[in-house]
Amino acid sequence: MNVITLALAKGRLAEQAIDIITRCGIDCSSVQNPSRKLVHEDPTGRFRFILVKPADVPIYVARGVADAGVVGKDTLMEANLPLYEMLDLGFGQCRMCVAGFPDKRERPIGVSNLRVATKYPNIARNWYARKGETIDIIPLSGSVELGPLVGLSDVIVDIVESGSTLKANGLVVLEEIAPLSARLVVNQTSLKVKGDALRPWIDQMAAVVEGKA
Ligand code: PRP
Repeated sequence: MNVITLALAKGRLAEQAIDIITRCGIDCSSVQNPSRKLVHEDPTGRFRFILVKPADVPIYVARGVADAGVVGKDTLMEANLPLYEMLDLGFGQCRMCVAGFPDKRERPIGVSNLRVATKYPNIARNWYARKGETIDIIPLSGSVELGPLVGLSDVIVDIVESGSTLKANGLVVLEEIAPLSARLVVNQTSLKVKGDALRPWIDQMAAVVEGKA
């Protein structure tokens, strides 16, 4: 029997990912029980679930320790690893944006390049490289909106969901980089080697997402 290992992002996306997997007829109750356990199995033993930090899902799947994973498109874009992106799961919708003050502000003396604060340095670098702009990336790990507020950066590259964090801080979307949502990704070798087990499950996931199951 081919056991399928799924990497699930802990946090925002986990609940809806588990809901879709459950609607495919897979018993995920072990994952739903609150505990510190990181590896779970369904009662049939056909599926194993590993709970990982969202930013780590692509690496677990790319390295083949997980056959598939559910992760946000933002994380995938940032990781840029060779994975098959099989399905847009439709939840976790938001946008990757450049945001800043609505009016243009002077940069401090001696600062020539646009200063971009972000949790997504690769996405920011690629976006401005495509536009031919040289920038100074300021990597942060959270509360990125503070960057322009305290004069650390001119703009931010970040996720905008409801827009309330921007609004509360007097910032606006300046450019939209990409629409985002949760995606099902699959390891390239797993799809070949375990295709008989993986493909029917992926089809079921697709049917659930399209509302046909
Ligand atoms: C994310 C993102 C924005 C906010 C956007 O941060 O980085 O700050 O959510 O959501 P909104 O448009 O609905 O306000 P998160 O909550 O993950 O916290 P962090 O800033 O500490 O990373």
